[in-house]
Amino acid sequence: MRRVALFVVLALSLAISVSAQAIRFDEGRKIWVLTTSHSSYAIGVSPQGHLLHLYWGGPLWRTEDVPAAVEQRDISSFDPHQMLDKEEFPGWGGPRYYEPALKITRANGDRDLVLRYVSHRVDGNELTITLKDINDDIEAALHYRVYESSGIIARYATISNHSKQAITMESAQSATFHLPAGEGYRLSYLSGRWAAETQLNREPVHEGMKVLESRLGESGHNLNPWFAIDEGSASEEHGKVWFGALAWSGNWRISVEQTPYRQVRVTGGFNTFDFAYPLKPGESLQTPEFYAGFSENGFGEASRLLHNLERTEIQPQGAKARPRPVLYNSWEATEFNVNEAGQTALAEKAAKLGVELFVMDDGWFGKRNDDHAGLGDWVVNPQKFPNGLNGLIQTVNKLGMDFGLWVEPEMVNPDSDLYRAHPDWVMNFPGRPRSELRNQLILNLARNDVKEYVFGFLDKLAGTYNLRYFKWDMNRTFAEPGWPEVAAGEQRKLWVMYVRNYYEIMDRLRAKYPKLEIESCSGGGGRVDLGVLRYVDEVWTSDNTEAFDRLRIQEGFSQAYAAKFMSAWVTDVPNQNGRSTPLQYRFLVAMQGALGIGSNLNKFSEEDSKLATRMIALDKRIRETVQLGNLFRLLSPRTSDTTANEYVSADGKEAVLFAFRHSQQYNTPPPAIYLEGLDPRAEYQLESLEGRRDEKFSGAYLMQNGLTLRLRGDFDSTAVLLHRMQ
Ligand code: DGJ
Repeated sequence: MRRVALFVVLALSLAISVSAQAIRFDEGRKIWVLTTSHSSYAIGVSPQGHLLHLYWGGPLWRTEDVPAAVEQRDISSFDPHQMLDKEEFPGWGGPRYYEPALKITRANGDRDLVLRYVSHRVDGNELTITLKDINDDIEAALHYRVYESSGIIARYATISNHSKQAITMESAQSATFHLPAGEGYRLSYLSGRWAAETQLNREPVHEGMKVLESRLGESGHNLNPWFAIDEGSASEEHGKVWFGALAWSGNWRISVEQTPYRQVRVTGGFNTFDFAYPLKPGESLQTPEFYAGFSENGFGEASRLLHNLERTEIQPQGAKARPRPVLYNSWEATEFNVNEAGQTALAEKAAKLGVELFVMDDGWFGKRNDDHAGLGDWVVNPQKFPNGLNGLIQTVNKLGMDFGLWVEPEMVNPDSDLYRAHPDWVMNFPGRPRSELRNQLILNLARNDVKEYVFGFLDKLAGTYNLRYFKWDMNRTFAEPGWPEVAAGEQRKLWVMYVRNYYEIMDRLRAKYPKLEIESCSGGGGRVDLGVLRYVDEVWTSDNTEAFDRLRIQEGFSQAYAAKFMSAWVTDVPNQNGRSTPLQYRFLVAMQGALGIGSNLNKFSEEDSKLATRMIALDKRIRETVQLGNLFRLLSPRTSDTTANEYVSADGKEAVLFAFRHSQQYNTPPPAIYLEGLDPRAEYQLESLEGRRDEKFSGAYLMQNGLTLRLRGDFDSTAVLLHRMQ
C-alpha cells in the first residue's frame, strides 16, 4: 500500500514539474527540451549552426543530461559527416543522400539548399525554430506543439520564400524523426484494401527504406498514415514504442529508413509523388501536422495516448463532444430504393429498438436509382419523395430521433444536370480520357468556384432541413488530376488545395450549424486520418460489416484511432463473405465502437428485436466507458481463437470486457483473459450480459489470474461489466 502511495506522490510531482516545463531552453548550449507526461524530445544547434536531433524517449527532468549538439567527422569520402549527423529538418543540398525534409528548385535552376538556425520563439506550448538557407531568404519555420497531458508532440513546418526568385518545392515534409541508435527495430503499420482496411502488420526494420504512402488523392484504404516502431520485442503493455500519425487526408508519405550507420529516420509529410508546389516571392506553404509520441508501456499505451489526444485536442468539439449516439443507416437495407413509406417503416422500427439518429443513405436525390446517375444533382427526387424530405424528417423527429442525410459532394455522374452544365468542373487533362470509377468523375475541389458550389448546396440542405448529420462519402480515388484553367506550373497545387478546400467546407458548415455532425466515409475507411478527425465526429470504418472480419479491421483501427470515431454497424447475415454469426456476436463486435444498425429491420424476428433492444440499452450504459475510456487489447484475433478487448472508464470506476471465440477445437478450453488497467487493491463486482451480479473479485486477482469465460463452439461471444466497489 505504501509503495502505491509513494508512486502516486512521485507521479504527481513528475506531472507537476512536467507541466511547468513543457518547453525548456538551455541558452548557453542552444538546446531545447520538450517534455510531456510520457516523453521528452530534444534538439540543439551545432556550432556550425545546424539543428540536430538529440533525444527522443521517456521524460527527462535534467536538461544537462542532454548531450551537446556536435557534428560528426567524415569517415571517408563516401561517408560524409552529413550522413551521420541527425539533422532535424535537412534540406536537399551538399552531400546528403537520405530522404530530405525539403527539396526545392529555384527559377534559375539551382537546387542546393542547406538550412541553418536563425531564430526561435516560444509561444505558450508552441516552439517555432526558424531555419534559413545559407545564401537565400528561403525559410523553414519548424513548429513544435507540446500536448503535455496527452503525451504527444505535433510537428509541422511553414516553408516561406522571401527570396527574389520563384521556387518550386519537390518535397515539403512535416518532420524528420530520429530513433536512438540501435538495431533490431520493428515497424508496425496498417495496410489493406476496400472492405479490408487497417490490417496490422509488423516487420523488422532493415537497412534501406520502407515507404508508406497514398497517391490516391485521399488518405486511402491501402495504407493508413500511422506508424509505430518498437525496440523489437514490445508487446501490448510492455516495451518501448515510438509512434506517429500524419494529419492529412490527401497524398501523404511516411518513409522509414535505416541508414548504413544504424540510424533509423522517419520522414513524413506531403507525398513527393507528382508533387511540385511553386512559391512565388512572398508566398509560403504550411505542411500537415505530424503527431508523435513515445510509450514505455507497449503498443497499448501508444494507442491510448493517441486516442486521448484525438478526443481532447483534435475532434471538433474536443472533450465537450457528446458520446456517439446509436445510429441507424438505411444503406444495407434499401440501397438506392429509398422512399418516404419505406424509410418511415424502418424509422418506426429503429425508434422502438432505441436508435437515436436515423440516417438516410444514398438514393434520395436526382435520378439516383442506381450508381449510374444523379451525383451532382442535389435536389430531392420527386418520384421518391413527392412531398420533399420534411415529412420524413418530421416523422423521424417525432419518433425521438435526429435525422441524418448521405451526400457525396465531390462527385458527379456524367449522367447528371451538373455535368451537362459544367463538364469543365471535373479534374481532367484536356483531350485525355476521363476515367470513371463507379460511373463517376471527381469535381476539382481545388477550384474556388467548385468549392463555393459544394459549400452552397450543403449549406442549402442544412439550412432547409432539420439535419443533425451528414454522412459525407467519397466513392472513388483520383485519376487524371489536371487543372487546365491555371498555369502549367501551378497545376499540381491541386493535390494540396483540394484537401484544404474539403477541410474548409466542413469548417464553414460546422461554424454555421454548430449542432451539425459529419461522418467521413470513403467507400468504408478510405479517408480516415488525424486531419479529417478535426472536422468530423465519426468515420465509416469499412464497407465490410461482417463481424468476424471486423475484429481484425477494428484491431488495426484501434492502433491509431479511438473507439468513439469508429462507426460500427450490426448488419444482416449471411454477410458479404457468406459467413453467419449470431446476432449477439454482431452486436458485441459493433458495441466496441460507435454503435450503428444497418440491418433490414423489416426482417427482424420478434426475438431479434428483443435482443437488439436489450443490446442497445446496454450500449447506452457502457458507451462512455468504451468511447471515452482506456482500451486494453488483451487477446488478438491475429494470434488466438479468442479475441478480448477491455475498456476502463476514465475515472476507473467501470470497465467492460468483450470476448469472442471463433472456432473451438473439440474440448479445448478457452484461454484465461488477464485484465489490465484495474486497481489491484480495489474490489470489482462482475455483471454478466444477462445482468447477474453474483461474483466479486479484487483487481489483483482479475489481472493476475484472469477470467476464464465460457466460450464454446463457433462464434460465441460475451461481455462482462466490472463495477468498482468503494
Ligand atoms: C459507400 C459507403 O461506404 C456505403 O456505406 C454507402 O453509403 C454507399 N457508399 C452508398 O453509395
